[in-house]
Amino acid sequence: LDRAMTDGFGRRIDYLRISVTDRCDLRCRYCMSEKMQFLQRKDVLTLEETAIIADRFIARGVRHIRLTGGEPLVRRDFPELAHRIGRHLRTGALKELTLTTNGTHLAEHVDALASAGIRRINVSLDSLDAEKYAFITRGGAIDKVLDGLAAARSAGIAIKINMVALRGINDSEFVPMLEWCSVQGHDLTLIETMPLGEVGEDRFDRYMPLHEAVAAIGKHYELLPMKYRTGGPARYFAVDGTDVKLGLITPLTDNFCAGCNRMRLTCQGKIFMCLGHEDHIDLKAAFRENGASAIDALLDRALAAKPERHGFAITQGSTQGATRRHMNVTGG
Ligand code: GTP
Ligand code: 5AD
Ligand code: SF4
Repeated sequence: LDRAMTDGFGRRIDYLRISVTDRCDLRCRYCMSEKMQFLQRKDVLTLEETAIIADRFIARGVRHIRLTGGEPLVRRDFPELAHRIGRHLRTGALKELTLTTNGTHLAEHVDALASAGIRRINVSLDSLDAEKYAFITRGGAIDKVLDGLAAARSAGIAIKINMVALRGINDSEFVPMLEWCSVQGHDLTLIETMPLGEVGEDRFDRYMPLHEAVAAIGKHYELLPMKYRTGGPARYFAVDGTDVKLGLITPLTDNFCAGCNRMRLTCQGKIFMCLGHEDHIDLKAAFRENGASAIDALLDRALAAKPERHGFAITQGSTQGATRRHMNVTGG
């Protein structure tokens, strides 16, 4: 029998996020710099390599895989990769395969997602205002996202909208977004912006603790705590009078690391044990030299090195508590 994965703090690791590309067609201000340098093809795991590594993680007890990027749907062989990993759903070795996407290429991928076994996706949409959306994403066209959402909904894929709270940008939209989600039948998760990448004063000015968003929503709707969990960091609330599950992801104001169940595999073949730390283990080199048998020992090392919690903090005039790596590398 394969050994299951438990870290040094006794946490069971059964969830893997795989960033399948660092590329993206958008340049969200809190995620990327305007001029990103992307990886070269040879430095990126091939479909075959990614699938073999995923197989090993599953053999070691991973039951939930989330595909992220960058933007996963800009990777050419994404449908094949999803299909390949999704095969484990049919044997029951994998319980759930999910996707986090910006939605711009969703419409043309909906069939591929459904046939790979993806039934639930998270879509980033920080504003319903076309101009604000273009501002936040540095040029994104919201209509493509709305088309993608409609297509996914018609295909019966459950949708959760991810909205990063940004003071002075989308902080007047919490209630409208909630009401729109209610009409569309989507769930909604609000997220505190984390200090990754180029963190300047702007990050401090834009940062908004979610209790402020909750207070704004609370003026219109009663929020009732739910037991419902996805295994992710969000805590959920029922929104009285709607079917929306409202998720709150509060890395800064209400840390959730004690319940952490995850590791991350980047498209470069690195395992990151925590979103908020730079240390990682390079699987690709060992794998390319010694084949799949090299993976297990490195997984054990990763487990032993998994930190207790992130060190994120957002303080005016300070970059302490920030991580220089950009979000698109590890995919959140
Ligand atoms: P499910 O719970 O499976 O629906 O997914 P999720 O909410 O974990 O995934 P998603 O990719 O939609 O991420 C939503 C937000 O949560 C992003 O801002 C991520 O960066 C953040 N996030 C996800 N996992 C972690 C984590 O382990 N630590 C921290 N600090 N943030 C995380
Ligand atoms: N802080 C919080 N969330 C972020 N995301 C990207 N960058 C950040 C950040 N700095 C979100 C995206 C996407 C999810 C994977 O992570 O909006 O929905
Ligand atoms: Fe886990 Fe690190 Fe995220 Fe905390 S910040 S929940 S330890 S990955």
